[in-house]
Amino acid sequence: MKILMVCLGNICRSPLAEAIARKKIQDRLLPWQVDSVGTGNWHEGNPPDPRTIAAAAERNLDISDLRARQITIEDIQSADIIVAMDTQNYQDVKRLAGSHEPKLFMMLNFLNPGQNQAVPDPYFGGAEGFRSVFDLLDEACDAMISQLQNKK
Ligand code: 4NP
Repeated sequence: MKILMVCLGNICRSPLAEAIARKKIQDRLLPWQVDSVGTGNWHEGNPPDPRTIAAAAERNLDISDLRARQITIEDIQSADIIVAMDTQNYQDVKRLAGSHEPKLFMMLNFLNPGQNQAVPDPYFGGAEGFRSVFDLLDEACDAMISQLQNKK
């Protein structure tokens, strides 16, 4: 199982989702892979936002080695499941996905099915926003992993 987390810049939400999901996958001894990308290329090659790194470090996750990159067609082809953080990300990936569209999901629909809720973009706020995004992603990743396990 190859999971691809997608947000806009790949420096706030999707790197957190990647790191949180990876930890849970490792803890459950699942042979799954997880990666993250942005739909935009502004931050290509950069580490996560310092506030993202800090929010993860508070929960004992070191994400300082992650680097932002923009989504490619190969990413879409090779993923088994693509998880968008908000509806803009969803629409942007959908345009690229073609016949791969059935792989595409909204992150918070694992928690609240069918509601298409967004993981709020914490970029223009303070540290508290990054903490609450962490908590939301933590819950959503638990729900995602159990639903994917049940599908097998
Ligand atoms: P992300 O957050 O999509 O969660 O990584 C953002 C990062 C950068 C920008 C916007 C959102 N930006 O405008 O540069």
